[in-house]
Amino acid sequence: KSLTIGLIPADGIGREVIPAAREAILAVQSELPEVKFIDLLAGWETFTRTGVALPLETVQTLRDECDCALFGSVSSPSRKVAGYSSPIVALRKELDLYANIRPVCSVSADPARPPAVDLIVVRENTECLYVKDEKLIQTDNGKEARATRLITERASSRIGKIAFELAKARPRKLLTIIHKSNVLSVTDGLFRESVRAVPRGVNGKYDDVTIEEQLVDSAVYRLFREPQIFDVMVAPNLYGDIISDAAAALVGSLGVIPSINAGDAFVMGEPVHGSAPDIAGKGIANPVASIRSAALMLRHLGYTSAADKIDKAVNDTLAPADVLTADLGGTHSTAQVTDHIMNLIKHQ
Ligand code: NAI
Ligand code: MG
Repeated sequence: KSLTIGLIPADGIGREVIPAAREAILAVQSELPEVKFIDLLAGWETFTRTGVALPLETVQTLRDECDCALFGSVSSPSRKVAGYSSPIVALRKELDLYANIRPVCSVSADPARPPAVDLIVVRENTECLYVKDEKLIQTDNGKEARATRLITERASSRIGKIAFELAKARPRKLLTIIHKSNVLSVTDGLFRESVRAVPRGVNGKYDDVTIEEQLVDSAVYRLFREPQIFDVMVAPNLYGDIISDAAAALVGSLGVIPSINAGDAFVMGEPVHGSAPDIAGKGIANPVASIRSAALMLRHLGYTSAADKIDKAVNDTLAPADVLTADLGGTHSTAQVTDHIMNLIKHQ
């Protein structure tokens, strides 16, 4: 048996941090079947060179040869470019990776005290405004832009089920549904109802999970004021995207927040951050988000001891706070932080 992992660093700091995730997996190889990596292309640089942002070969290799994958980050332009479409959004669709799971947890220097922030954002990953059905029309009163927001019962129920499962497995067993049903009563109403319907007809399986709701705007407000009230948050695509970036600020940096894009048949780890053009190429990007994404992916696949080893080494690096990259106030490089974490793994 072997474990074949597709590596798609893509653009910017993705190319600097995905190699660190690869190193972390190799460092825990004793806990895993034989590991093989396959390097794959995607992204803006690939598009400018070949005219295609997500080569067919990348999708086919992921489908046919890989058990899982790690994706770095893409540099998507903020303007419309003919023929270009974000490869990460496309990959989530192509592989039906419908759940974006983003744990945000602070590391406390005193292990006896619980972390101040310990939550998971569960983001629906295939629909909402990200179906990208946008139109620009010229009217008598100037330009008019419209976007379609798609919410289905099927997608909302299946993300709801993932959220209930995650909540059930955690000590507090609290699930908060994030929506804006007071304004968008049809679309967000369907999301809310579909998630609420998950426990029906499963014989009390989720009876121990407490269900709460929060309008998205006040959820962000409360997230900043009292983050400890949240445990598992489930949200439609756009709200989930925004909330998880916001939550990252609570623990110091986007550079430490991992995620997985999970479907029933495939899982892809991905740091939550983007390609960070402001620091790309300088060797100072924080590798922690990518290293933790590798751990989260391995954990999802059932390789718990491998994931535990990586997470422990990361926490033992962050807690004393003496080997850190600049985003966390440190002076160390990507390579120095990576080496430090690898050494801690080796000496466990
Ligand atoms: P960003 O996440 O790339 O950067 C935001 C800020 O956080 C920057 O100041 C950056 O230097 C810092 N930062 C992010 N990751 C860091 C790390 N690992 N270590 C240290 N500092 C880090 O978001 P931004 O600037 O809005 O977007 C840049 C590009 O990334 C855009 O083209 C955008 O489309 C793309 N992007 C791609 C994503 C993906 O591939 N899934 C997600 C978000 C943005
Ligand atoms: Mg984002």
